[in-house]
Formats: sequence, structure tokens, C-alpha cells
Amino acid sequence: MKKNLLSGVKPTGRPHIGNYFGAMKQFVDAQTLGQYDCHLFIADYHALNLIQDADQMRELTLDLVLDYLAIGLDPKKSIIFKQSDVPAHTELAWIFDTIVTMPYLERAHAFKDAEAKSKEINVGTFNYPVLMAADILLYDTDVVPVGQDQKQHVEYARDIALKFNHIFKSDTFKLPEPLILESVATVPGIDGRKMSKSYNNTIPLFASREEIQKTVMSIVTDSNGPEAGGVPANVYAIHKLFRSEGDLKALYETNKGKYKILKEALIEDTDTFIKPLRERREKLVGAVKNVVKVLEEGAKAANEKASVKLIEVKKAIGVL
Ligand code: AMP
Ligand code: TRP
Repeated sequence: MKKNLLSGVKPTGRPHIGNYFGAMKQFVDAQTLGQYDCHLFIADYHALNLIQDADQMRELTLDLVLDYLAIGLDPKKSIIFKQSDVPAHTELAWIFDTIVTMPYLERAHAFKDAEAKSKEINVGTFNYPVLMAADILLYDTDVVPVGQDQKQHVEYARDIALKFNHIFKSDTFKLPEPLILESVATVPGIDGRKMSKSYNNTIPLFASREEIQKTVMSIVTDSNGPEAGGVPANVYAIHKLFRSEGDLKALYETNKGKYKILKEALIEDTDTFIKPLRERREKLVGAVKNVVKVLEEGAKAANEKASVKLIEVKKAIGVL
């Protein structure tokens, strides 16, 4: 039997090259390799913590399916579905709620970050790792391709699996492993911090050439700062995604201190990479009907698997 791979992305806005290199590219590579049964979903219930407008939620969800298809995910090879279409996710999250403690969830990085911003945090944000554990454990997942920022969440899923198995004296859940590629674990944004929708420092994955130009030109460089030997660190860090370090060495050596030329080279390389993805996505936009069909078929396949697992869980806890 093939191993199971599962991952999700929240429909909270246009994905960026950090999402792509950190996680989504691994989805496509895994699908191509054919080593795993791939389960790739749209984490709309996780996004509900942030997106609380029905029209926007619908639009962002369809957009993300188009993004998935445009990067090369194929519904014939991977199960592509929407979290809210599979009620077993929230049902299992409730069951986990009864064995997970509040102090344990208070230790989660994402919760601590949210708390540091001193907002009144909703219960969904507090509970985020529990729903994510349910997402992962429902499908007997072996590997979870994600960026570094999600590592702790996969560890939470492992802890919850172990705790459940222990309390209910069963081997109901497998222990998942994160799949994090070191070189792209945290892709930096145009200001050198982690690339993130919430920092406004992204290069969108399907950016137009004009957007690429504008964004790359605004990459923060500091000619008085410690830019080692005239190499603009933030430009180089992004450039590494598209070209080998051997290639870049020569380019950056020849153009030491010439930030404009180096940025122009990065614009070319970024656009060369993005253009085919952008064009594929443009072609898909007209076919919204197909997108709906993809989600319907994905929901059917995911529900079949998830409901079998949920019955096993219900037997283990004694409600069945
Ligand atoms: P999200 O948009 O938060 O649902 O993230 C989708 C995926 O992209 C997750 O696996 C994240 O870990 C990953 N990701 C987000 N930002 C970055 C980044 N700057 N570098 C690498 N991976 C990232
Ligand atoms: N928390 C993930 C993120 O912010 C999205 C997600 C939800 C996820 N459930 C998941 C990722 C299960 C992997 C597995 O990116």
C-alpha cells in the first residue's frame, strides 16, 4: 500500500512564492513521483478565523482551487477537496478537544503570537491546532509537506495521536511526519522577514510582469549596511529560488554593488518562472464549472475515507 501524504492551504488571499516553494511545490512533486496517495485540501474552516464574509470566502476558495490546478495538481491523481465538505474533520476535532488541555494549547507559537498582539482571541484560533490534527490524522497520514511555520502543528498532531491511542488503548492513529525542505523552509519576503500575506512583503505566485517589476524594485537594500561585499542580501535570498548558487555567484560577482542590474536580472528570472504558471491559470479562469466538479468529486472521495476512520474512532471511544 502507498503511503499517505496530506496538506492544506488556507483560502485567505493570493498565494505567494513562499507558499509555493515552502509547500505547494512539494504537493506537485509528490503527485508526479506517484509514491504517495495525495490528499490536498482547502482549509476553509481554518480560514474562517480570518475571512468572515460569505462572498469573499466563496471567491477565495474557488481561486485557491484554480491555483492548485494551475500549479499542476491533477484531480485524477490527487484527492482535492474542501475541508468543510467533510464533516468528519470538525467531528474529530471535537473528540480531540476532550483530551487536549488548555495549557498545552496555550504553548502553541501561533496562539502566543496572536496573544502578543493583544487582540481578544477567538476560540477557533485557540483551537486551531486541534482541527489541524484532525485534518491530518483522519487520513492515516504519513507525511505532511509544509513550511517551517507549521512544524509545531504537525508535532501537535503527533502528540494528540499518541495521547488518543494511550487513553483509548488502541492503535487508531498513525504518527505523521512533517516534510520540510531545509533550503525553502522559510522563504524570505522583500524586506528580509518571512514572506507572509500579513507582512505585505510577498511576490504573488501568479504575479503579472508589472507586479513582479514593482515588487522586485522595492526589495529593501542597504548600501550602507552589512551587504557583504556589495551583494544585496534580500535580492540574493529570493534569487536563490530560481537559479543555482553556482550561476548566481558569477552574476553577483560581476555586478558587485550594482543593485539595479541585479534586480533587473531577478525580474527576468522571476518572470521566466512565473509566466507559464500565470498563463495556465488564465486559461483555467473561464472554467469555473470544472472547479465545482473537482470539489464535488474530491469531497466524495475524501468523505469515503474519512467516514471509515471516524467509525473506527467512535468504536474506540465507545459511542458506537
Ligand atoms: P497558508 O497560506 O498560511 O495556509 O500557508 C500555506 C503553506 O505555505 C504552509 O505549509 C506554510 O507553512 C507555507 N508557507 C507560508 N509562508 C511561507 C514562507 N515564507 N516560506 C516557506 N513556506 C511558507
Ligand atoms: N495551518 C496550515 C497553514 O496555515 C493549513 C492547514 C490546515 C494544514 N490543516 C492542515 C496544513 C493540515 C497541513 C496539514 O498553512
